[in-house]
Amino acid sequence: MAFNMHKITVSGCLVLIAAMCFVACSPPEPKSRQTVSIPDGTVDPAVWGKAYPEEYELWKKTAEPVDTRRSKYKTGMDSGAISVDKLSQFPYMALLFNGWGFGVEYNEPRGHANMVRDQLEIDASRLKSGGVCLSCKTPYAPALQKEMGEAYYSGPFMEVLEKIPQEHRELGVACIDCHDNKDMGLKLSRNFTLVEAMRKLGKDPATLTRQEMRSAVCAQCHVTYNIPKNAENKSIGLYFPWQNSQFGNITIEDIILRIRQDESVKEWKQAVTGFKMAFIRHPEYEFWTNGSTHFKAGASCADCHMPYTVAGVHKISDHRVMSPVQAGMKSCKQCHAEDADWLRERVFSIQDRVVSIMIRAGYQTATVAKLFEITHKAQSEGKTMDQPLYDKAKEFYEEAFYRSLFIGAENSVGFHNPTEALRILGDALAFGTRAEAYLRQALAKAGVDVPLKVDLEIMKYVDQRGEKKIQFDPKLEFKDPMGLQEKFF
Ligand code: HEC
Ligand code: HEC
Ligand code: HEC
Ligand code: HEC
Repeated sequence: MAFNMHKITVSGCLVLIAAMCFVACSPPEPKSRQTVSIPDGTVDPAVWGKAYPEEYELWKKTAEPVDTRRSKYKTGMDSGAISVDKLSQFPYMALLFNGWGFGVEYNEPRGHANMVRDQLEIDASRLKSGGVCLSCKTPYAPALQKEMGEAYYSGPFMEVLEKIPQEHRELGVACIDCHDNKDMGLKLSRNFTLVEAMRKLGKDPATLTRQEMRSAVCAQCHVTYNIPKNAENKSIGLYFPWQNSQFGNITIEDIILRIRQDESVKEWKQAVTGFKMAFIRHPEYEFWTNGSTHFKAGASCADCHMPYTVAGVHKISDHRVMSPVQAGMKSCKQCHAEDADWLRERVFSIQDRVVSIMIRAGYQTATVAKLFEITHKAQSEGKTMDQPLYDKAKEFYEEAFYRSLFIGAENSVGFHNPTEALRILGDALAFGTRAEAYLRQALAKAGVDVPLKVDLEIMKYVDQRGEKKIQFDPKLEFKDPMGLQEKFF
């Protein structure tokens, strides 16, 4: 009886919270306050800022440093850290990505105003793909793509950058990327990427609701993409690997399938294994829309990253886009009744669990990579491997690699869709474990002796990064938050 009473109270509370949420989360559409008209095609945010000074001032603030120490998994060596080196936090990535730019430098994202500057400051090998890299970095990208055609993708990065008016080369995301200049409604600017990809999903972008648009504007950039290459390894295009999916259900399985169907998107060669691979980058939109609680509850990216705020006499959207944790959990409180400490603890608790299994899956994948290195060495010394076992091991290795890469590249450390993160990493671990078993069997059959614990030589990969290695501080490496470090590594 007492138990039942308890249940009734809890569900009563849930109804109440849901009702509060409904009221709190459906703010009226902000009114157009436009007094100055913005000419068609205006890129310069300062001109838009004459009409909307409050949004403009907040937008400019994305250039200012934020306190990364407030987050658990985005911490620099100190609050003054310019950027956060992912390869030092998760050294297994230094091993897996060895062979191209991402293995030299791979940082946590920073504020929007820094996007082009950060690209110019990183290792030159990361710019090799050409002009294509500007697609989610400058408001001029759609015009350049239209004007230059294939040369936009393949042209040297600096040459394409120089076609942008000098004063706007380092602009980053601008008002015109997300807005219609006439009524300030949300508008997609990336016709050649997102709009195309939506159509392939069977979703007509014109039918997106206002709430869906509050996420779609972010999906112009916070998505993974493939860069097809020609025989000379020059970039010849750009597309989102969503061909096998439906709206609200873009899965890692579909993405891997697509990568496997298109040899031309294998952009780089993994040094340890010698395999040609594709890459997965910042898949925030895919991961979050694939059935997460918040997506299903009708939330949007802007709800959490651009909360309503008061500026002078206006209630506006906070255009200083950043981590809600670094912003003090304000956005969550639009819908949740709990206090900031409770909400922060929920985020960290989810992230700890995700990181625990992400590290385990990452090191498992790295172990298989090293076993392939041993296998290839044995082959070069004349040993013959059982081909079916080798092929199966390679297939499973790739399945593990892309899953581990997907969660490592997604920027919320699992928060955007916790159960999906654990599902994907669980599968990565299962594929990686199977791959190891097949490979060990092939090696045993060939008479190659392999130690129980494979030496990953992790420090070698962390150190092979030239000047960048100075960022590495062993104290920074994240140990398994669940305390299983010693058992596994
Ligand atoms: C034109 C492309 C583009 C669009 C549109 C875009 N972003 Fe970004 N975003 C980026 C890039 C690139 C970075 C990384 C910048 C860097 O590290 O220099 C970034 C960084 C971020 C960060 C990290 C900020 C920090 O302080 O660490 C957040 C959060 C974010 N974006 C959320 C969003 C949300 C939410 C939307 C939609 C309202 C959005 N972005 C729209 C390209 C874009
Ligand atoms: C329910 C709230 C919520 C929604 C909805 C949401 N996010 Fe997040 N996002 C978070 C939290 C919490 C983090 C973790 C921040 C941290 O650890 O500091 C995060 C992290 C990020 C980061 C990394 C920030 C950084 O400083 O490194 C990016 C980029 C990002 N989100 C983009 C998006 C995009 C794009 C969408 C929509 C597709 C989205 N988010 C939807 C809450 C949300
Ligand atoms: C990354 C995408 C993005 C960029 C860039 C952006 N905005 Fe917005 N803006 C939004 C979103 C999302 C909303 C909320 C719209 C809604 O709820 O319908 C919004 C709302 C607005 C509104 C309506 C009132 C409000 O604040 O909610 C104005 C005005 C506005 N933005 C002005 C600007 C100006 C000026 C710039 C450039 C300095 C800019 N925006 C840059 C995404 C963006
Ligand atoms: C637009 C409204 C909205 C915003 C903003 C929002 N939430 Fe939620 N959140 C919900 C709803 C609705 C649920 C589902 C509640 C239920 O079913 O009981 C939920 C569920 C959750 C859950 C449990 C489910 C899960 O995915 O683990 C956590 C934890 C959570 N929210 C944390 C946060 C945090 C942290 C933020 C801010 C970064 C935030 N939420 C922002 C509406 C929101």
